[in-house]
Amino acid sequence: MNKVIRTIKLTTAAAAFSVTTAHAEDVEVLHWWTSGGEAAALNVLKQDLETQGIGWQDMPVAGGGGTEAMTVLRARVTAGDPPTAVQALGFDILDWGNQGALANLNDLAAQEGWDEVVPEALQFFAKVDGKWISAPVNVHSTNWVWANKSVLDANGIAVPETWEDFVAAVETLKAAGITPIAHGGQAWQDATVFDAVAMSAGGPEFYKAAFIDLDEETLGSDTMKEAFDRMTFIRDNVDDNFSGRDWNLATAMVINGEAGFQMMGDWAKGEFLNAGKVPGEDFLCFRFPGTQDQVTFNADQFMMFDQGGTVSQEQAALASAILSPSFQIAFNKVKGSVPARTDVDGSELDACGQQGMKDLAAAASSGNLFGSMAHGHAAPASVKNAVYDVVTAHFNGEYDSETAVLELVDAVSIAK
Ligand code: BGC
Repeated sequence: MNKVIRTIKLTTAAAAFSVTTAHAEDVEVLHWWTSGGEAAALNVLKQDLETQGIGWQDMPVAGGGGTEAMTVLRARVTAGDPPTAVQALGFDILDWGNQGALANLNDLAAQEGWDEVVPEALQFFAKVDGKWISAPVNVHSTNWVWANKSVLDANGIAVPETWEDFVAAVETLKAAGITPIAHGGQAWQDATVFDAVAMSAGGPEFYKAAFIDLDEETLGSDTMKEAFDRMTFIRDNVDDNFSGRDWNLATAMVINGEAGFQMMGDWAKGEFLNAGKVPGEDFLCFRFPGTQDQVTFNADQFMMFDQGGTVSQEQAALASAILSPSFQIAFNKVKGSVPARTDVDGSELDACGQQGMKDLAAAASSGNLFGSMAHGHAAPASVKNAVYDVVTAHFNGEYDSETAVLELVDAVSIAK
């Protein structure tokens, strides 16, 4: 759709919701997009709204995965002062929706046909009692590996297909004096790696039984111990300064050739692109070995807080802008994610983005698409945080794999 037509469409959508105000207020947006790549993507949204005359009050809360942002949000809501719109993930959205805190976007959704174009896996987290309560921005996934191509080439390493290949590649890099794995030791990053490692160790049924169904036997199984053992191998192959490092600084280690691999969601691609790097030439993206047919996803959405029973003009404009096909492409190209609509043409995306779209569609149709535990799409926050605690304590050597399994069973059963 060309820009003029889209602007008219947005203005009309916004006007339909303009009940009490003659002109739109600024939007105040709480989010955790503070890295270089994330900020570049956010600018696409800010600029889109600016062209509609809607100002932007930025409320960034640093901290990947959004844990800190959710804490700040609770304080704002408790103080009776929720922001206009808030970046949120999966079960957190459902939580706020079930509390009746969010605006009902159904009129806008019906007018723009969201039901027909947003995949069901995302609608599950965007609606409560049949009401649209948030606007999906994208689909990310966590089972990716990012690699420095010249480092791999110089060491004769091909893209690893299996866990054993990966172990061999890591040993080769270690022997060559290169940090094999770039990692930031923060609970959410440990958990992000664990998403993929567990899927690889046990396969899709195991992942689902453990993290979505929260089945006690699976959580306490030998396969879970194997997953923790693999985490120990990863811990043994990160550099000495990993503790507390931000994820984007770990990405920078791969970008600069200080490290070979990073296991991270596809927001990492945003950092490579922001540094002017080209997929296939400077860096490689591939699914974590052993999870080539699976996708563990998370989708960023903007929840709109209820502002007295009506959807404000600026909330409608923001939601409408987010769901528009041209924005979906423009934004996700920069962010590293793929569109939250099934009807947009992905040919403008780079090779990793196109693979991401293809993998997502294939995983959805073969029953291999699963919510990410680390990013709030497998289980509610209480369970997610319990898993974080155990994975992180084990990663940091507080206990061995056998104990970690027992701790996991206990922690999940208390939290659920
Ligand atoms: C979000 C991404 C974000 C990443 C790191 C994830 O939870 O979905 O949009 O880039 O955290 O901050």
